[in-house]
Amino acid sequence: MCRSGDLSLVLDLGSTPLANAFVSPERAAEPEQRFALETLRCARCGLLQLSVVVRPDILFRHYLYASSASAPLLEHFAGLAQEVRDRFARAGSVVVEFGSNDGVLLRALRDRGLRPLGVEPATNLASVANATGLETWNEFFGPDVAQRIAADRGRAAVVLANNVLAHIDDVRAIAAALDALLETDGVFVAEVPYLGDLIAHVEYDTIYHEHLSYFAVHPLTELFASAGLELFDVRRIPIHGGSIRMFVGRAARRPRSADLERLLEDEARTGLLDASTYADFATQVARSRDALREMLGRLRSERRRVAALGATAKGNTLLNYCGIGTELVEFVADTTPFKQGLLTPGMHIPVRPEGALLEERPDYAVMLAWNYADAIVRKHAPYLSAGGHFIHPIPTARVYA
Ligand code: TYD
Repeated sequence: MCRSGDLSLVLDLGSTPLANAFVSPERAAEPEQRFALETLRCARCGLLQLSVVVRPDILFRHYLYASSASAPLLEHFAGLAQEVRDRFARAGSVVVEFGSNDGVLLRALRDRGLRPLGVEPATNLASVANATGLETWNEFFGPDVAQRIAADRGRAAVVLANNVLAHIDDVRAIAAALDALLETDGVFVAEVPYLGDLIAHVEYDTIYHEHLSYFAVHPLTELFASAGLELFDVRRIPIHGGSIRMFVGRAARRPRSADLERLLEDEARTGLLDASTYADFATQVARSRDALREMLGRLRSERRRVAALGATAKGNTLLNYCGIGTELVEFVADTTPFKQGLLTPGMHIPVRPEGALLEERPDYAVMLAWNYADAIVRKHAPYLSAGGHFIHPIPTARVYA
């Protein structure tokens, strides 16, 4: 991101299949394509990043994660749309979202009187959005698309990007695209998972090939400054295991917020900018794996039945890195129809419908969607009353409920 080549290895999670490459049982004997999963840290700007970039068309042209499938996300996006409307837009403002998925945020923006346009590389998701009247261009966002939108619609009051900056290799090109697309006082509002949370809670499982960058605020301020923009406000939000919502305008158009100054200070004070923090992190990741393996091994030796809940992408990093297969976890229960009947990538644990938890009543279920822990406990009260337990796998495996 800062163009330095001074990178050093922080964490090697091995060579793993892509986190959403579920396998059909008929193809279980065939070898899976694997890619190195290593994180490197830049000694100059501090950005944590993957060593390997998987071609974006492999990862994102057909994308199976539909944002509107998650109830907590719907509420989250309604709040975001309201903030955008109140702080930065007028009735009828042009608002562009890239990585707009199935249009869940576009709809919330339209409901608030704005004129949203989506840009989404996944053909399947762009079709869903367009079919419901939420106009979406089926493209990868970049300077060229930005210029075409500006010519076609006029410049945007707000550009939005949720959980997509970390998917993009050339973020400097994105900063240039924003410059081409935003009105003079336009604002870019983006959410990314926060590196401070990843480190503090040892969320190593959120590292997979779709996530090329793991952002702290310091490198982001530099990135935008290099394009004549300025990150002027930022706030921590509890979504996806801990994220930040950032606000970026043109240089010197708005005062820098006290929240921004505080978070920059916190990053310096808590060691987020120090190489030694990352050496400790790697040690904690190995300990986290050992504790989980030890717990599951003990439960199995006591003849307890163990399953998992949520065939998540992060779950697949965890299962592969910890070497957890069907000898420790019988099945993974998941609500997503297309995942059911398939095997998890790499470890080949069968995915079953969510109801399997109550039918089979394993003594324990590992929460692989731990970011929704409280919602899971509420939703699965009948499983708990029937004597089941949930294991929270990170930072140190523990019985959660
Ligand atoms: P998410 O944390 O968004 O996954 P990822 O790591 O892939 O980004 O979790 C979504 C997945 O978890 C999805 O496959 C559905 C599943 N899930 C359930 O099956 N039941 C639940 O109660 C929850 C919260 C998630």
